[in-house]
Amino acid sequence: MIIGESKNRLLKFPQGFLWGAATSAYQIEGGIEDTDWSKSFPAGRATDHYHLWHKDLELLNELGLNAYRFSIEWSRIEPGPGKFSQSAIEHYRSVLEFLKEKGIKSMVTLHHFTTPLWMARRGGWANEDIVFYFCRFAKRMFGEYSNLVDFWVTINEPVSVYAPLSYIIGRWPPQKKNPLLFLKVVYNQILAHKKIYQIFHNLGRGAKKARVGIVKHNGYFEPFSNSYADKLIARTADYFSNKFLLNRLRAHMDFIGLNYYFHHRIKFPFRVRNENKLISDLGWEIYPKGIYHVLKQLDSYGLPIYITENGLADKDDRYRKNFIKDHLLWVHKAMKEDIDVRGYFHWSLLDNFEWDHGFGPRFGLIEVDYKTLERRPRPSSYFYSQIAKSNGLVCGL
Ligand code: FCB
Repeated sequence: MIIGESKNRLLKFPQGFLWGAATSAYQIEGGIEDTDWSKSFPAGRATDHYHLWHKDLELLNELGLNAYRFSIEWSRIEPGPGKFSQSAIEHYRSVLEFLKEKGIKSMVTLHHFTTPLWMARRGGWANEDIVFYFCRFAKRMFGEYSNLVDFWVTINEPVSVYAPLSYIIGRWPPQKKNPLLFLKVVYNQILAHKKIYQIFHNLGRGAKKARVGIVKHNGYFEPFSNSYADKLIARTADYFSNKFLLNRLRAHMDFIGLNYYFHHRIKFPFRVRNENKLISDLGWEIYPKGIYHVLKQLDSYGLPIYITENGLADKDDRYRKNFIKDHLLWVHKAMKEDIDVRGYFHWSLLDNFEWDHGFGPRFGLIEVDYKTLERRPRPSSYFYSQIAKSNGLVCGL
């Protein structure tokens, strides 16, 4: 028992706590052809969610989840600069109306890694013009969906994930290894977020019922030993990965979205030496306690926190139930210590296209058969559903 609660005790969560699942457009919708990812990492028809969304959201509703995080695909809405697609706008309106009708809170991400080809060809996030274009897109979305969206996320995992993978390590489009471009991307993402935040808060009262935040990928950095060198390197990595961006955006967020996946036990000069007692299908260590440390650290920003992603690749659903339970035990402990956590979104609702890993990793609460497109809720989804429906977690389960 991790937290020292008695057996079979029900850990309640506060009323109104959000129990959700998260997705992103490129990973599930299918038929997205005009982005920077589409040539090098085509997702084809993916799960065909663009057509099957109604069925998928019915499943989410049946699971008793009261929140859904998804992204609007910029390249669908604005297939050419200044050319907006009314049918794409209406598509997402239907999705949002469905959620509203069912009483499911919506969290909408405006940029989840994919950039329209027309913008990518002009240099994407490395070109300062993107700030103008992205703000224009955001403003349009605020106008279209003003009373339908509960939470807006400007950019998913900017700066500390997107920028190094795309512009230093070169694994993601545009596959550059260029520190100068990297710095430009960092600068432009920060600027774009700040501007969008201001645009939103200058709007009329109707739109302002929603909240605007960023989704930040934070990991738990732990020194491998007590040595000065290990501590120094762990602190440095922690600063750049976890704090650098948030320190700059303190005054421009209504909430912090936290994506938690990783624990890094760091040994000088820069080696990760995790124990890896349990790993997911992707070889990622399963380390629930890390979420507690990360949440404690976020407390210093004094903002509500939503866990916007947390999950694992687990095709056979061997670990997912315990994964959810153990992470939530640590979340609950943090909350008991006054950390203001208001929701948990499991990654992911459905199996999906995992970026440069393709369709292999299975992150879904719901399994997708990519041949027949059949959906099959995994056993762990019923476990999660019980938690959501009772707004609590039975410890001894
Ligand atoms: C996060 C991404 C999400 C998904 C998970 C596994 O970093 O935001 O799209 O790929 O990792």
